[in-house]
Amino acid sequence: MIPSAPDTMHRYSGIAVLAHWLTTVGIGAMLALGWTMTALEDDAGSAALFGWHRSLGVLLVLLALARLLWRWRNPPGAPRRASPRIERLAANLMHRLLYLMLFAMPITGLAGAWTSEDGLGVFGHMAPQPLGVHKLLSETLFNLHAASAWVLVILVGLHAAAAVRHRLAATNVTLPTAHGSATASMRQLSATPRRRLD
Ligand code: HEM
Ligand code: HEM
Repeated sequence: MIPSAPDTMHRYSGIAVLAHWLTTVGIGAMLALGWTMTALEDDAGSAALFGWHRSLGVLLVLLALARLLWRWRNPPGAPRRASPRIERLAANLMHRLLYLMLFAMPITGLAGAWTSEDGLGVFGHMAPQPLGVHKLLSETLFNLHAASAWVLVILVGLHAAAAVRHRLAATNVTLPTAHGSATASMRQLSATPRRRLD
């Protein structure tokens, strides 16, 4: 879904690409807000950050739902460059895990706030608490929320590294090796038929 990756861009519609990058920016903002507001704790200004974090989190879970629905109705086309089966399986598993985290983060956050003493306030409105306050449950959910943030960071790092690696492979750059001179590699490069797509 990265717009500049030559053999992946055609697979996804403009809307899917836009939703992907909105999610990326949104998750980046949520991580920054989450870590800043918990570092500030009760200092002035932290309440506003908590409010933005909760409200943006609700918008992101709606975006994730819309993305999944869109994806279900509009499956991406087959890639032009055939990748090894193991690579496709790994990418598929990674995408499923990323979708899972896009729901796990807001669900643990919402449920943690909903069962806490402070309650759940989104867009300036407090949600009713029919289940009451459960301090231990709320703390456990928030611990899970904080740990999941690191899992998400690691997954996104691996996913972005794979995307960059994939792009380098698609542009077909051959680097000089210990067994061949730079000139030989250049000759080999110009003799290699280009795997570019158009
Ligand atoms: C919060 C950050 C991110 C999340 C949650 C995320 C999530 C996802 C998901 C769920 C998919 C699969 C889409 C589908 O098939 O329905 C995907 C695809 C993709 N993402 Fe990301 N992504 C993130 C950041 C990035 C970054 C930083 C890059 C690039 C450096 C990137 C490059 C790609 C590419 C190239 C694809 C298409 C892969 C393919 O065609 O198989 N993503 N991403
Ligand atoms: C959508 C993705 C979300 C991400 C990436 C995210 C990320 C984070 C991060 C990084 C922290 C700081 C954790 C720490 O180190 O203590 C945090 C805390 C928190 N988040 Fe989220 N969050 C998300 C969604 C939500 C939602 C929807 C809510 C809704 C209520 C929420 C409520 C909270 C609260 C109340 C805290 C403070 C927890 C505490 O006091 O320990 N988060 N979040």
